[in-house]
Amino acid sequence: MNISIIGAGYVGLVSGACFAEFGASVTCIDNNKGRIEKLNNGIMPIYEPGLSDLVASNVDSEKLFFTSNLSNSIKDSDLVFIAVGTPARRGDGHADLKYVYAVAEEIANNLKEDAVIVNKSTVPVGTAREVKRVIKKANPKLNFHVASNPEFLREGSAINDFMKPDRVILGLESEHSKNVLSDLYKPLIDIKTPILSTDLESAELIKYASNAFLATKVSFINEISLLCEKTGADVHKVAEGMGLDSRIGSKFLQVGPGYGGSCFPKDTQALVRMAQENEASTRIVEAVIEVNASQKARMISKIRGAIDGSILDKKIGVLGLTFKAETDDMRDAPSLSILPALLDKGANIIAHDPEGIEEAKKLLPNSLQYGESIEEVVKDADAIILMTEWIDYREMDLELIKKMMKGDIFIDLRNIFNKKEMKSLGYKYYCIGR
Ligand code: UDX
Ligand code: UDX
Repeated sequence: MNISIIGAGYVGLVSGACFAEFGASVTCIDNNKGRIEKLNNGIMPIYEPGLSDLVASNVDSEKLFFTSNLSNSIKDSDLVFIAVGTPARRGDGHADLKYVYAVAEEIANNLKEDAVIVNKSTVPVGTAREVKRVIKKANPKLNFHVASNPEFLREGSAINDFMKPDRVILGLESEHSKNVLSDLYKPLIDIKTPILSTDLESAELIKYASNAFLATKVSFINEISLLCEKTGADVHKVAEGMGLDSRIGSKFLQVGPGYGGSCFPKDTQALVRMAQENEASTRIVEAVIEVNASQKARMISKIRGAIDGSILDKKIGVLGLTFKAETDDMRDAPSLSILPALLDKGANIIAHDPEGIEEAKKLLPNSLQYGESIEEVVKDADAIILMTEWIDYREMDLELIKKMMKGDIFIDLRNIFNKKEMKSLGYKYYCIGR
């Protein structure tokens, strides 16, 4: 089976490599020529564990190809996946679909008879029908099909999430597209993965509702953590006790500085806009967004409270910048709102991150310094902030770190360390909800 994937980003590239692994012949197309050139030289444009090996083996077996020439790459494709970015539009938070529609225009006159155009990007309800209208208008004679196949990949575990998903969602409008997509997903069907075939709109809304619900769990436990701090409860015990109820489930009840990334922030906003446009209400999701913003703000006051007296000229070592561990993605990372607020108060911050520094430099103020090693960051620091739960930090020698610091303040925004142990090591240890 011949498939094309347009957009070689976090979703398009992982999907393309995995589809090739399933046995399809896959062409990944991207209009960023630099990205394609890197890929053709075996250089990954994103950090995702396991991706470079998966890409290399499928390029070697000639099942995976990269090009920026869209028109002649899709003329033999049975399936064309649209996996371009759908960022939150500046200002109103709508999903910006200009890239999706631009691609629909571009492919309309190069599609083969009965091609199936599949939205993999997260797109508002109704977009698949709109893509169909755009293509029909540009090429009235062509018989083609549109489908929705949203992804549920978490950065840092995207390949595993693709190869062993809880479910595959197919939004379909014809038997033909159902047959073609079932063929493609045969390796998952063979391992009894639930395939839910439904209409286009339901498939599109399943993606938003799923992400918004996961974000709701995160904001819920973040809000409960404040009550824990006020009452002396331990938020991890509360989360554990809740999670033992199979109706609640233990996942996504981990407190933190607030959720970030390229999905939760934009998908919750887009869902609220969609509801407003359709005169439906999403007060819960609106509250989830608000709670997330206040969680980040609460972190700033927690940090300022911990650093007794003025923050001016204090050396603060920051461990972790990315929105979560095992990714280089800085999109909407909590560090992007927390650190500038501290810099504005005259703090002298030096930050480390195993993968995110290159991206972070584009997004954080120049006054922020970067350390190539953990030692560089903690040396003579008055305070340390643990921002992202990288394994590198979990494995640190805390006794040695304490000796290298000038001060004794440790602010753990991911609760990865043990409160008693930190106190016995002589730290003034601050954390969330405990
Ligand atoms: C994806 C999905 O699009 C988004 O809906 C989901 O919520 C997150 O993952 P992502 O893969 O992260 O977005 O996008 P990005 O990493 O920005 O990659 C998009 C790629 O598409 C870029 O490489 C860009 O160069 C390419 N692109 C964009 C095109 O090839 N053509 C275009 O017209 C626009
Ligand atoms: C998410 C969805 O999980 C995935 O299904 C969808 O396809 C894309 O968006 P991702 O954004 O990559 O994936 O990361 P995820 O692991 O979901 O974390 C999202 C944010 O929530 C991160 O900032 C993370 O730190 C935070 N989070 C997650 C918590 O604070 N607590 C948790 O328990 C889980």
